Amino acid sequence: MNILITGGCGFIGSHLVRLILEKGHEVVNLDKLTYAGNLENLRDCEKNSGYRFVKGDISDQETVFPLVEDAELIINLAAETHVDRSLDSADVFLKTNLFGVYAICNAIKNSGKKIRLLQVSTDEVYGSIEHGVFKETDRFSPTSPYSASKAGAELMAFSFHHAHGLDVVSTRGANTYGPNQFPEKLIPFFATELFEGRKVPLYGDGKNVRDWLHVLDHARAIYEIAMKGESGKAYNIPGLNERQNIDVVRKILKSFGKGEESIQYVKDRAGHDRRYAVEGKRLESIFEFERVSFEKGLAETVAWYKNNEKWWRPLKKESEDFFKRHYSKLSSNER
Ligand SMILES: NC(=O)c1ccc[n+]([C@@H]2O[C@H](COP(=O)([O-])OP(=O)(O)OC[C@H]3O[C@@H](n4cnc5c(N)ncnc54)[C@H](O)[C@@H]3O)[C@@H](O)[C@H]2O)c1
Repeated sequence: MNILITGGCGFIGSHLVRLILEKGHEVVNLDKLTYAGNLENLRDCEKNSGYRFVKGDISDQETVFPLVEDAELIINLAAETHVDRSLDSADVFLKTNLFGVYAICNAIKNSGKKIRLLQVSTDEVYGSIEHGVFKETDRFSPTSPYSASKAGAELMAFSFHHAHGLDVVSTRGANTYGPNQFPEKLIPFFATELFEGRKVPLYGDGKNVRDWLHVLDHARAIYEIAMKGESGKAYNIPGLNERQNIDVVRKILKSFGKGEESIQYVKDRAGHDRRYAVEGKRLESIFEFERVSFEKGLAETVAWYKNNEKWWRPLKKESEDFFKRHYSKLSSNER
């Protein structure tokens, strides 16, 4: 198949591009190369004759139209993804996450071809849940500009399914971790801060619960849903591995031979969701798989950051201003 992947130079996208090339498909990767996009993530794929990179913006209709016309399947991962940045300013989240999916849907509609769109969404669209799990039929209740833009993006894609008969499926994946994640998200941020000899800033009481999904499991599930998912349906992708943030942090600290003295509690994130949890029965009906164990996955991820300083050092430098501004608002201590 000819598959158009957007955001392939990011964290999940780069693992997905590699997986899909291994399956023997041809991939065009459309990526704007924002601060989160990194050509290094796919250096090993550049010699593959089935792979082509196009630098461009998914919200730019002129860029998107010809690429969509040539594709049999589109997997849209391109997005602004950091909740903290969306709390700072959400303009670019609306432009990329909402106008981007609109441009893709419009291009599919205008092509008159039967092209499937898999919209990569997130479990954050449901908002927080104290007990139990969200099903795909539960209502959206996003609580950050990031999750609101992702909820809007999914609704936009499904509106084209209902109104214009587009073949659309979506995935709502859990909190993802693994190698190549930009060092602003919890696990790589904390690992690289410890590497620098700093304390790790932990929001609130550290008892917020996240369900952790390894990036390879996330990529495998996206691929299977793209191939076998029922048109018009959303599919949750749980990690089946809930942890309080404090437990994850203690595990990271242990791997650095450090303890509680390396935690700096900071004022809680605005509107910080307490717990995310989704049910995976619909996914299990098309794809059953054994997930990477969290202990193994986390140890390998931390080891990857320890061994790939060349990869993360320039990224960390690039986002230093944001971190300084953000964390100085939350704590009296300097980073
Ligand atoms: N990371 C998670 O925990 C998680 C969980 C569930 C769902 N998701 C979703 O998965 C997708 C990928 O997430 P990620 O963590 O890999 O993100 P990321 O921030 O690592 O990568 C995003 C990629 O999109 C590209 N991009 C951004 N704006 C673009 C634009 N306008 N046009 C083209 N490319 C653009 C960036 O350059 C980058 O390569 C996102 O849609 C995200 O919402 C992520």
